[in-house]
Amino acid sequence: MVLIHIADLKVVFSTRSEKIRAVDTVDLTINEGETLGLIGESGCGKTVMGMAMMGLLPVNAGISGIIQYSGQDLITAPEPVIQQIRGREIAMISQNSAHTLNPVMKIGDQIAEPLLVHHLYSAEEAKKEVIRLLGALGFEDPIQAGGRYPHEFSGGMRERVLIALALICNPRVIIADEPTSGLDAQVKIQILHLIKEKVTGNRTLFLITHDLGTASFLCTRLAVMYAGEIVEIGPTKDVLSQPFHPYTQGLLASLPSAGLHTIPGVSPSPSSLPLGCRFSERCTAALERCRNEHPAMKEIGGTRQVRCFLYA
Ligand SMILES: Nc1ncnc2c1ncn2[C@@H]1O[C@H](COP(=O)(O)OP(=O)(O)OP(=O)(O)O)[C@@H](O)[C@H]1O
Ligand SMILES: [Mg+2]
Repeated sequence: MVLIHIADLKVVFSTRSEKIRAVDTVDLTINEGETLGLIGESGCGKTVMGMAMMGLLPVNAGISGIIQYSGQDLITAPEPVIQQIRGREIAMISQNSAHTLNPVMKIGDQIAEPLLVHHLYSAEEAKKEVIRLLGALGFEDPIQAGGRYPHEFSGGMRERVLIALALICNPRVIIADEPTSGLDAQVKIQILHLIKEKVTGNRTLFLITHDLGTASFLCTRLAVMYAGEIVEIGPTKDVLSQPFHPYTQGLLASLPSAGLHTIPGVSPSPSSLPLGCRFSERCTAALERCRNEHPAMKEIGGTRQVRCFLYA
């Protein structure tokens, strides 16, 4: 069953001097219970996608298109409706934990807050629920942990707190934006296992990351984003074993296991996107047509899609 349906989504930031097309025509469906990874290099629009889905874009953002959740369009929904969905139905583990947690509020109170705001539990019940959840997320002494402040935690513990904050209202969808960035290798592995165990299951996961390893561990389907648009989508194992788009091929070749071959050049600026294929300037297989015409998404074999004239 389709849970989230995104069509013709555009997010444009207006600054004094330019228009930044951060998300430029994205179509995407996410099924209930699915684990979908959105991958792509820095600045391609991943976080903006997540923020748009949460209704949390800054004031200088213009948004158009459709983001339907369970049949309800979130772009046109009034703020009180969004507030009922945000946190309760769709929750986010944000990219920058340092900015998410309130430095002067105890962790336990911060995690309990959404339960109280949404009137789901009494103060006493909320406290018990927080302790139960902190225990389930690997805090040996959850009562003591709940009484501490964010600065008293290590990076890995703070990430567990962010996961607790996202899970506390038992949402149907979790959007996780780079949940393991900045963590050392061992802690990263622990957090990834924790997400796999506690976050997925019946829940729907939309993982945002530039790290193919993380995405392939957690997700059954991958969407590859480049310069504001999706250029390839398909089952993880197929995309990794036989990438279609030259950009996806480049991403795979840049993995340590493949010899760290970086893709030459840089992605186009979102304030002056090219007319043709956005990857054409860096693509060794580019044809004349690729520079002048913008390729549409093409379906290949039922489960896969690619935006490239090589497959037209
Ligand atoms: N508030 C804003 N005003 C203007 N431009 C913005 C704003 N927020 C994001 N952008 C621009 O939108 C584009 C996409 O940014 P986004 O944060 O989504 O990238 P990302 O793919 O998440 O990158 P990273 O992997 O580094 O987190 C970038 O060019 C960024 O500079
Ligand atoms: Mg980001």
